[in-house]
Amino acid sequence: MEIIKIKGKEFKKYISSIDLESMINLLSNRINKDYDSKEVLFIIILNGAFMFASDLLKKIKGNHMISFVKISSYLGINSLGENNILIGLNEEIRDRDIIIIEDIIDTGNSLSCVLKELKTRKPSSLEICSLFFKPNSFKADFEIKYKGFEITNEFIVGYGLDYDGYGRNISEIYQLK
Ligand code: IMP
Ligand code: MG
Repeated sequence: MEIIKIKGKEFKKYISSIDLESMINLLSNRINKDYDSKEVLFIIILNGAFMFASDLLKKIKGNHMISFVKISSYLGINSLGENNILIGLNEEIRDRDIIIIEDIIDTGNSLSCVLKELKTRKPSSLEICSLFFKPNSFKADFEIKYKGFEITNEFIVGYGLDYDGYGRNISEIYQLK
């Protein structure tokens, strides 16, 4: 079993590059089929989704716009007005087809707020593509149309996801031992 150590914690190999690539092929094929080159505004949620988005979007056909946004870290303490939840989103949303690209959906809390805000801006459609989903901790009520791996609650790292800021550069997924 392949083990790595990050900040004193041990992680074991969980999902290989080959399996990641197969999943990305499945997801991109579905998006290509559903949108048939129709223009999409992809909203990439930084930092975690950067590697997934990069590999996924290379396989998407047609001409699209891509926006890179961050979810405000003040979200948890509710100190912001609703228009400040997404940092860096300058594109027009109204009447556009939107796909949000996320690395992992855990409780779903952060994305719930984002969806609520985006819906007030009246897009024609709004879908989510997430590489990982933790069904056992999910507490929100939105649909995830493009869902990658359904995983258990154990913490994972690599392929863009971090443990305390480290591990995003690792090309495969490791799980906390
Ligand atoms: P949620 O609001 O609970 O859905 O949290 C989602 C965010 O928490 C993700 O976008 C990640 O940034 C982070 N997160 C949740 N689970 C993990 C994990 O296992 N590894 C790394 N980051 C995670
Ligand atoms: Mg994330």
